[in-house]
Amino acid sequence: MKVCIVGSGAREHALAEALARTAEVVVAPGNPGVETLPGVSVTPAPPEEVVADLFVVGPEAPLVDGLADRLRALGRKVLGPGAEGARLEGSKAYMKRLVEAAGVPTARWASFDRLDEARAFLRRLPGPYVVKTDGLAAGKGVLVTPDLGEAEADLEAKLSGAAFGEAGRRVVVEEGLVGEELSVFALCDGKQLALLPEARDHKRLLEGDLGPNTGGMGAFSPVPGLGPSVLEGVVEKVLEPTVEQLRRDGVEYRGILYAGLMLTAEGPRLIEYNVRLGDPEAEVVLLRCGGDLAGLFLSAAEGHLAAGPSVLEGSAVCVVAAAPGYPESPATGSVIEGVAEAALVPGVHLYHSGTRRDSDGRLRTSGGRVLVVGATGADLVEARSRAYDSVGRLRFPGMQFRSDIGRVGEPEHAGRAEPGG
Ligand code: AMP
Ligand code: GLY
Repeated sequence: MKVCIVGSGAREHALAEALARTAEVVVAPGNPGVETLPGVSVTPAPPEEVVADLFVVGPEAPLVDGLADRLRALGRKVLGPGAEGARLEGSKAYMKRLVEAAGVPTARWASFDRLDEARAFLRRLPGPYVVKTDGLAAGKGVLVTPDLGEAEADLEAKLSGAAFGEAGRRVVVEEGLVGEELSVFALCDGKQLALLPEARDHKRLLEGDLGPNTGGMGAFSPVPGLGPSVLEGVVEKVLEPTVEQLRRDGVEYRGILYAGLMLTAEGPRLIEYNVRLGDPEAEVVLLRCGGDLAGLFLSAAEGHLAAGPSVLEGSAVCVVAAAPGYPESPATGSVIEGVAEAALVPGVHLYHSGTRRDSDGRLRTSGGRVLVVGATGADLVEARSRAYDSVGRLRFPGMQFRSDIGRVGEPEHAGRAEPGG
């Protein structure tokens, strides 16, 4: 079987590695890391011109733009929803209306294009306050704050078009949910669902979950302390009603459904849907999936999902090495050193995100998130220590990374030497 993966980031690098276990893989367009994988090639051709038995679309933008519809019109099999289904991610207002119709527990909300109305709604909420661009903003269009004044200023910046251009001219204002976050991923064949391993990502730039929201600075899987009943509840109360509502609306969703949830004192609440694997969550989720993933993805694309993936023992952690200035204005073009040494750490998988290969053969930074270091281990502690051993070997000017990825759930003193011990 030949699989074409669409995309150029670390998620697509991880997908290529996982799917190449049992299939021939071509990535359109791929990146310098993808090119080095055995059994994997890259092509600059548009996906519509590639011939393959299965297409897996990595990022949201081409899905929202209808790539899966265009490929299906050519008779291709695709893991990824058409433009209708992709509105779950492409329009937060559409998503909120759909899940409300489905009875899925979610935060109170309303959407606005007028400042006075948005402000009035905001002032009636108890806080914390959440202001989101309605359209896509690469994970950066969301403000969560306890400060009403800050939320009002953000409303104005978004609705005026100053902050996010057209994507911000409609906003969703929400009640802020309080708790720990959880990312749940399911393969969907239009009717049935099969869970992939869950993950938690760290969206804030700085340690201790401070600083601006980013596309994600690291992730880990599994999430400690979740009883099986939490995931069962998410399937029954969130995912299944959503797929049923989509079907009632005439949408056959064949792809990955990613629910971003808050584990509140009242139970899991849906924050958002994404219509693809997360990045960097994919890097840890896929490290925990064994077996014939290409065959499993094909069965979802063909509409006859029979079983879930075989999930491996142990844990996975990934840490993002980002460029200076990320997320606002990352500086690019620096030489990256230490990649070969970083890859030598046992259990480590290095995924390229924003890199390019120069004419002189040197690897340079070319984006905000540069490299993602994934590591497996017997448990979270071992996976973390391997990931950080590897990150410590990477070098480029101004490299930023968080040193607390995956620390959640560990005892306070973990990693600190005990006197006399
Ligand atoms: P989104 O793009 O909707 O996933 O939002 C990005 C991040 O903002 C989420 O992962 C949460 O950390 C945070 N967030 C979004 N909506 C809410 C909410 N209603 N309450 C609390 N945090 C939120
Ligand atoms: N890491 C969050 C996302 O991919 O949307």
